[in-house]
Amino acid sequence: MKINQVVVIGSGTMGSGIAAQLCNANIPVTLLDLTTDISQKAKEKIEKSRPPLLIDKSKIDGINVGNISDDFSIVSKADWIVEAVVERIDIKHDIYEKIFNARKKDSIVSSNTSSIPISVLSEKLSDNDKKDFCITHFFNPVRYMDLLEIVKNENSDLDKVKQLKKFCEEDLGKGAIICNDTPGFLGNRIGVYAMQIAMTEAFKMKLSVEEADAVFGRPMGIPKTGVFGLYDLIGIDLMSDVLKSFIKELPEHDPFQPVAQEIPLVKKLIETGYTGRKGKGGFYRMNKVDNKKILEAINLETGEYFPSKKIDIKSDKVDLLNLINRDDKYGAYAWSVISKIIKYASSLVPGITDKFNDIDEAMRLGFNWTRGPFEMLKAIGVNNFFEKIDNFENNKFLVELSKSRDENFYGERQKYTEIETLGKIKPKALKLDKNNSAEIYRFKDFNIVEFTTKANALDYDSMDSLKNATDKPLIIINESMQFSAGVNLTYTMNFADKSDYKSIEKFVKYFQETCKHLKYSKYPVVSAPSGLALGGGFEVLVQSNFVASHTNIVIGLVETMVGLIPAGGGCKEMLWRWSQTEEAKKDPDFAPLKVFDIIGYAKTATSPVEAEPFKYLLPENKKIMSRNSLLSVSKKIIEENKNFIPPVESKFHLGGKTLKDKMIKKLEKLYNEKIILDHGMAVGSELAYVLSGGDTSIEKTLTEDDLYKLELDAFMKLIETSKTQERIKHTLTTGKPLVN
Ligand code: NAI
Repeated sequence: MKINQVVVIGSGTMGSGIAAQLCNANIPVTLLDLTTDISQKAKEKIEKSRPPLLIDKSKIDGINVGNISDDFSIVSKADWIVEAVVERIDIKHDIYEKIFNARKKDSIVSSNTSSIPISVLSEKLSDNDKKDFCITHFFNPVRYMDLLEIVKNENSDLDKVKQLKKFCEEDLGKGAIICNDTPGFLGNRIGVYAMQIAMTEAFKMKLSVEEADAVFGRPMGIPKTGVFGLYDLIGIDLMSDVLKSFIKELPEHDPFQPVAQEIPLVKKLIETGYTGRKGKGGFYRMNKVDNKKILEAINLETGEYFPSKKIDIKSDKVDLLNLINRDDKYGAYAWSVISKIIKYASSLVPGITDKFNDIDEAMRLGFNWTRGPFEMLKAIGVNNFFEKIDNFENNKFLVELSKSRDENFYGERQKYTEIETLGKIKPKALKLDKNNSAEIYRFKDFNIVEFTTKANALDYDSMDSLKNATDKPLIIINESMQFSAGVNLTYTMNFADKSDYKSIEKFVKYFQETCKHLKYSKYPVVSAPSGLALGGGFEVLVQSNFVASHTNIVIGLVETMVGLIPAGGGCKEMLWRWSQTEEAKKDPDFAPLKVFDIIGYAKTATSPVEAEPFKYLLPENKKIMSRNSLLSVSKKIIEENKNFIPPVESKFHLGGKTLKDKMIKKLEKLYNEKIILDHGMAVGSELAYVLSGGDTSIEKTLTEDDLYKLELDAFMKLIETSKTQERIKHTLTTGKPLVN
């Protein structure tokens, strides 16, 4: 079975997302709905989606649209037919009847249901048809959520299901986990239970919305939306429907039942239109007071809103043992929540899956947790856990573990895939070094650096690790959401607050030195980004010798947004890339003017396809749909470059003052049109100075070091201004750059 053509039936949220991902994989797909008008509108929505569902918008016509009456015959040509219509069994049964009458013999049919058991979905199918039917449960948004749960029935043709799994892994880039036919499968069963526990315990233990989110968030390795923030994001009404379905499907005595019951405050919120971010607000809301926008949070006891309080529980690094042992209400809450999640997840083995670590992987891939429940148990330590826990008599998994007390119970990770992933090899690799910001591993004959800070922001320690890891071929890769969001601005501002500019200068110099070292070291350096690769993160990548990029990236030089300019070689490398073009050979000002616009406007790209026109990525860089494959592709690059020769140093010829004047003219126009203000003018002028080569002329040759020096001088001038510091602080406190 080769999948060359797919039909998706139902063009709502999920059908559109699945069709878009097939289009991303260059697989012709037809999206059918009740009317062509509905599927056509869905297609238009795909094109406009934010974050974009398409990697390359120009490929939108890879998606054909039609309706289930006039265009159903297309089903006979499809190798895979995905049903993604509303969650109603009668409608689904009708559709299956039509599909199985029309489809070709070798095809496979799947449903995207999130809650209907496969036994019910397939009850009207013949035994023969059952062979070719399974559930493929994608998560929303399909391009960005890596989890795909595949559920087979006892009759399924295993070979076919395996081939479909392989296709979804390699071509669609999903982490495909096969699970048993139980309510909510793996991800939602544990993920929604965890949310309910976090919520009900917050009510019981009298924590505020902000306090609960501060604990059930980054300190636990869970995205910072926490529980109440996540509720608002998903939609409080939608969550209520999900819970009703769990109440209906789960056994009466399942521990999920009591925490799934409707909470009066939640009921009231839904009834009054407070359904979350899409409604008037939810547990949080934006309120306007005296024409100022204020974020408010609800008081869980009274239902009234108050200005939201920032809670800092002083636990930036994920350290579960420390967290649960804290002698305060946060520690008590964390233990109560974590222990219940571990207890529940382990009680479901082997019922929902016999591979406990698949549950962890489902939580990583589907809920973006950095650790699943069993890894939490491992991190706390088996003995430490059993010293604190009580009441686990009916839990076979815990009873056995309490007897063995085996701290190494975990074994290999990511067993669900055959791909050689970073997660799989880390336990086998030698940990060479570790500091506060990164870890260095040696595996076979290459090194790996994994950044470990929040959003992988870079500081002195990150650079130190990179520098120390070049005694072998090096792969810079990580398992967290972002490759790197850039230089750690908090770290930089801590020096600025003390007017310790010498330390900032020292850091920037070290950053430059390290990046140069990466570029020219004896062995090849490969960067394998996924997620954000911004600012300093991009500078590391662009000064690596090779790039193996995931298709889900956000890449670019965004320094001007905080009133700075790239100073880790970003200006220099972009100048070099653009100076290699045909246009640049004819016009020496072409490259600097182009780069001036790209960096000046802080252009970003949301995929490798979008990144190429800016030259953030080059055609020879590898672009990979499957995040799990980043390591093996990087490894292959190293194997293919056994005789690697470092590049020859770049030389530059830049126009100096006359070129700078051209750039200043551009700025003056923007200033006169009030698009930029005084500070924008100042930042733009510094950028112009760097990109025009400073005090030079076109005949003079500038070296990379000359450009590093210009970048450093401009950066230092800007960081010392109060306006830039104001912009950085604003970004740090609000998460958003200041507009103008
Ligand atoms: P939706 O309500 O956004 O879209 C459903 C689409 O099905 C609509 O466009 C509707 O016009 C169409 N439809 C209804 N009857 C039809 C018929 N007889 N023939 C063809 N099209 C028909 O629903 P959504 O959210 O996309 O859900 C689809 C499926 O995916 C459901 O089974 C749901 O449980 C599941 N799911 C939903 C997730 C989500 O986050 N929304 C996540 C994972 C699974």
